Formats: sequence, structure tokens, C-alpha cells
Amino acid sequence: MIIAVDGPTASGKGTIAKALAAHFGLPHLDTGLLYRAVGRQCALNHGNADDPGDALNACDFPDDLLDDPELRSEATGGLASRVSVHPEVRRALFERQRAFATQPGGAVLDGRDIGTVIAPEAQVKLFVVASVPARAERRFKEMQASGRQVSLAEIAADLEARDARDRSRAEAPLVAAQDAVLLDTSDMGPAQAIAEAIRIASHAVA
Ligand code: C5P
Repeated sequence: MIIAVDGPTASGKGTIAKALAAHFGLPHLDTGLLYRAVGRQCALNHGNADDPGDALNACDFPDDLLDDPELRSEATGGLASRVSVHPEVRRALFERQRAFATQPGGAVLDGRDIGTVIAPEAQVKLFVVASVPARAERRFKEMQASGRQVSLAEIAADLEARDARDRSRAEAPLVAAQDAVLLDTSDMGPAQAIAEAIRIASHAVA
């Protein structure tokens, strides 16, 4: 069984995808981390994230970069959003994601284009959304917990800029697959969002 969990940053899709993977005993891939690694590698190469050639070169990042805590920062998220615009980068990361999705037994993947591009045949497709204030608040708490100094207004502005870029790009924009189930987590805590996702997924495969 393939479970595709798509949606914008801080919508809760990562938490939901991890919980679905644990519930159904499936491996999980956070595909945003791959784009974050490309963005980070591009910066380490002193490249320009808006340049397709520099961004493509950065797709050769070493695997241990995936464990770099800097990948979780807002700055790297912004770089990821910029490199992910280039079709060359999306193509370079396609096979790795596709192989993960189609492994025997199935998998859970979260990202922006799992249900539309990476695994359109997924048996379960969730599109997780939440309001900008709800998402900014969550990200703010995460940042505070990790000791980072960022204002709520800065986070909200960054989320909106990233959403706009992800939604408007020509290739694989952030959009719900026609057969995806929409899950709005604005007024839900993690436990409720997870329970709802498990209910939707169980129903879809019943
Ligand atoms: O999900 P996360 O915030 O870690 O993703 C970082 C950026 O990577 C997103 O803003 C998006 O631009 C890009 N991304 C993507 N396709 C995916 C996953 C992430 O374009 N499947």
C-alpha cells in the first residue's frame, strides 16, 4: 500500500505521515528533506539556488547531509523552495522517491507532489492543510523549543512566500490530487489529526 501525504509547510503532514507509517508498519520518506539537502548543498557550494545549473550540481549531496540539523532551519527551507522550482532538480530526485514509493510492501511518503507526480497510483492520498496563523504558531513553538530567535510575523511572512512559490511553479506545483482527501488541521492537536488520518486511510483501503 502506498500512502501519499501532501500539503504545505507546518500543516502537520510530517507528523501525520510518521504516525501513519507506524500504524500500518510501513517505511516513511520525508521528501522535503531531499529538497532541503539540495538547497543546503547549493549554499555550501557557494552556488545560487535560483540558477538551474548550480541547483542541479547540488543534487549530488552526500547521504550524511540528510542528518545535518541545519536542514530543519527556516533558511534552508527557503533555499529548498527555491531549488525545487527547477525541473532539472525535480527530475534528479524523482527516481529516488519513486523507488522508495514502489518498494515491495508499500511506503508512506510526504511532500508536495507525491499524489500527483511521484505516486499517482497511491491507494491513500491525503492533502493536509491548515491556516497560516495556525501553522506560524506551530513553527514558532518549534523554533522556540530549539532555541532559535525568530518572530511570529517573520515566520508567517516566510510561510506565505514559500506557499506562493510552491503553488505557482510551473512543474509539480503544490496542488491536491483530484482524488485526495482534504484534512484541515487548523483546529486540531496532533493526536486528533493523527486519529483522523488513520480513520481516512483505513476507510480508503477497506
Ligand atoms: O516539506 P518541507 O518544508 O521540508 O519542504 C521544503 C521545500 O521543498 C518546500 O517548500 C518545497 O518547495 C520543496 N518540496 C517540493 N516537493 C516535495 C517536497 C518538498 O517541492 N515533494
